[in-house]
Amino acid sequence: MDTKSNEVDRKPPECQHYACVKPPFAVGLFPAFAGGKPPFPSFVAHCVAPFGQLRQRTRAPRFSRSLQMKHQPLVVSSMAHDLVGSEILQIATEVRRMKKDGFEVVDYTVGDFNPDYFSPPADLVQGIAQALLQGHTNYPPAMGIDELRRAVAEFYRTRLGLDYSSGEILIGAGARPMIYTTCATLLDPADVVLYGVPSWNNNHDAHIVGARPIEVRTTAAQRFFPSVEDIRPHIGELNLIALNSPLNPTGTLFTREQLLPICELVAEENRSRARRGAKPCYILYDQVYWLNRFGPEHVHPVGLVPELKSATIYIDGISKYLAATGLRVGWLAGPEAVVSRMSAVLGHLGAWAPKAEQVATAQFLGRTAAFDAFVEQLNANALSRLQRLHQGMQALKGQGLAVDSIQPQGGIYLSVSFDYVGARTSQGKQLTTLTDLRQFLLEDARVAMVPFTGFGVKEPTSWFRCSVGAVSPQEVELSLQRLAASLRSLSR
Ligand SMILES: Cc1ncc(COP(=O)(O)O)c(C=O)c1O
Repeated sequence: MDTKSNEVDRKPPECQHYACVKPPFAVGLFPAFAGGKPPFPSFVAHCVAPFGQLRQRTRAPRFSRSLQMKHQPLVVSSMAHDLVGSEILQIATEVRRMKKDGFEVVDYTVGDFNPDYFSPPADLVQGIAQALLQGHTNYPPAMGIDELRRAVAEFYRTRLGLDYSSGEILIGAGARPMIYTTCATLLDPADVVLYGVPSWNNNHDAHIVGARPIEVRTTAAQRFFPSVEDIRPHIGELNLIALNSPLNPTGTLFTREQLLPICELVAEENRSRARRGAKPCYILYDQVYWLNRFGPEHVHPVGLVPELKSATIYIDGISKYLAATGLRVGWLAGPEAVVSRMSAVLGHLGAWAPKAEQVATAQFLGRTAAFDAFVEQLNANALSRLQRLHQGMQALKGQGLAVDSIQPQGGIYLSVSFDYVGARTSQGKQLTTLTDLRQFLLEDARVAMVPFTGFGVKEPTSWFRCSVGAVSPQEVELSLQRLAASLRSLSR
């Protein structure tokens, strides 16, 4: 296993801090500037925390801009300037262009559903229409409507054995603003957040709030989850551990054996912090796909170690298991004192779920039989695609092609591997990088996938994510035929 963790150097290449651009007068005043080393910890905090309170306190004075001669002046905040764009959206743009040019592309890129194949429950949609007609068109309460918070509490009590009151549940416009709200509420600039890579968006959220990320590079042998051994060396400095199961991009699930020791480690650390009166290490547990599962149990921190209730924030919503990505209803559950501050943060963003959608979701969560029937059908449709793709990849592997895939366990994703960087096309072009390979698969096989570099992986990797929410079973077959032909045309 080649697991390794690396602290990410967050100093932007064109940092605009005057300590970093080393104006001559500053070097004279503070000789330490000459070596490029900021003399005060607050300057370091500025460089790792380009956004937030701390930055304001250490912002360069107005005149510094004229001294930044060899640097382009920023037209936006350094946070926005350094924010990495989504590789997924970039590939999606290429796919759109090819489709516009008349090519038929099998698009496994977007973590979304094509409503032609996967649409939300009709009852839910009708409920929203009805709620709108009944006049639910105004602002919802800041925490979300009572009915929905109570419905979520009941949903968790009956399905997960979790005991949350409605005051411990906050409703928002999908899971995404809940993740941001969690980070913004729990992390000060330069606080430390640990997460595994590949994973979805943790790197961007950490960047936006100016946290210091510790990224644990996970491996296929661990089904891409961090282990307790990966976390233990860092535990004393962690403010947040961000975990997600079922995992986007891999379609794999945490096992009890993997998650329990992590939870025990955090609980032990927090007991020691409580004795010292220090802030706990929180766990952000993103379980937005927890009902998109094909067999294995769903494990989660408070279910394994109940004392972690005071340090766990569950992230969830209807986007994935009700195929309702565009309806924008999500929630978080956590300790009341924390959730009430989160409500204040979310309120200032105004990222509430629309009121009519809250009303209809509250009703639908309570309709157990219809809910279960819907989820069962959705999972059957997703699994048949994932399973066929997995079987097809395994058949190609059996024929000697350098491919692999991991048995799908949940989500709408399959991890597939193409070990072809360095190979030559029939026209003699060498595929020297992962991007060359991805583009070859797109242009030659007309199959679009996202490499794990789109999910925070920085080293070379052969792994890609295939998302099946926007493809038909026929397209899965077509993609396997085309991949086989294209890969066979390559030579080493
Ligand atoms: C792991 C994970 N969490 C959260 C989200 C965001 O969900 P939502 O659309 O409800 O904001 C996604 C979306 O793909 C996801 O993959």
